[in-house]
Amino acid sequence: MTLARRSFLKHFSTGIAACKLISPAYAQRGTKIKPSSVAKKVLVAHRGASAYAPEHTLESYRLALKQGADFVEQDLQITRDGVLICLHDITLERTTNVKESFPTRFREELVNGASTRRWYVSDFSLREIKQLDAGSWFNPKFRGARIPTWQEAIDLVRGKAGLYPETKAPEVYGQRGFDMERLVLDVLRKNRLDKASAARHTPTIIQSFSPESLRKLSAMLKPGLPLVLLVDALSARWLTQEGLAEAKKFVSGVAPAKALLDKNLVMQAHAHGLTVTPYTFRSRNAGSFKTVQEEMAYYLYDLGADALFTDNPDLFPRVPMG
Ligand code: G3P
Ligand code: CA
Repeated sequence: MTLARRSFLKHFSTGIAACKLISPAYAQRGTKIKPSSVAKKVLVAHRGASAYAPEHTLESYRLALKQGADFVEQDLQITRDGVLICLHDITLERTTNVKESFPTRFREELVNGASTRRWYVSDFSLREIKQLDAGSWFNPKFRGARIPTWQEAIDLVRGKAGLYPETKAPEVYGQRGFDMERLVLDVLRKNRLDKASAARHTPTIIQSFSPESLRKLSAMLKPGLPLVLLVDALSARWLTQEGLAEAKKFVSGVAPAKALLDKNLVMQAHAHGLTVTPYTFRSRNAGSFKTVQEEMAYYLYDLGADALFTDNPDLFPRVPMG
């Protein structure tokens, strides 16, 4: 078995039953693994089924499960009272009615030279955040959808798919007195999701753009959960030979912006024993491809990516396209 294959197994296999990657029997200690049965690609529902329902709502997560997601992603933010919630942005105004509900609770900031009002998650208690409408911005039919706590997301997803939390802006929260990694681990421990046994029904992979956050988690998590380093154009040095070798010391996979990926990079990452999970694939922007299915199939089967993040779980190509 190649290094890449072993790494892939270690990274994804602990949640085999939930991921439907291979028979649950293969997750048992000492059971021989059939290489042919683990070549299936892994579907991560990006912010849930966020092409069809408001991102990071239970409605979006529920739909992702219905559409067969192997993992459901949660971006994590922290409320003023220290609760992890699922939201992509560090502020509330893009995806909620916070401006109408709390018109004076903004901070004035200069953004690109212009004075801008921003409603930070960490300035609001969970009770206040639960009053916000997180659905109408997407479509009036979702009016009244709420921002879920991470615990609520876990309660919904647990046993049906894996969890794929992202530590968002951990440095900013650190400046505000929060230890995001500690909060994440506390929730995982409370739910017994840090145990190897939990991975059979609810595998968890933690991702971040922050290498510091992942290094910290790597040191705190013994034995470890899989960790994935997100890479964008600004941090593309992680995708060099030196970068990959360094990343291998604290993560088991890299997740590059899809524009950064080519076949050579996939091969190099695999040679370092790192899995490859590009982001983000969406029907509203399939680039030069005719459809997002074709785009996803290209990345998975032509370039050799192991998994990917998509807003369209229902369109994920489970097998190469003919
Ligand atoms: O986490 C994968 C992908 O979601 C990274 O981008 O900005 O959507 O969190 P973003
Ligand atoms: Ca994310």
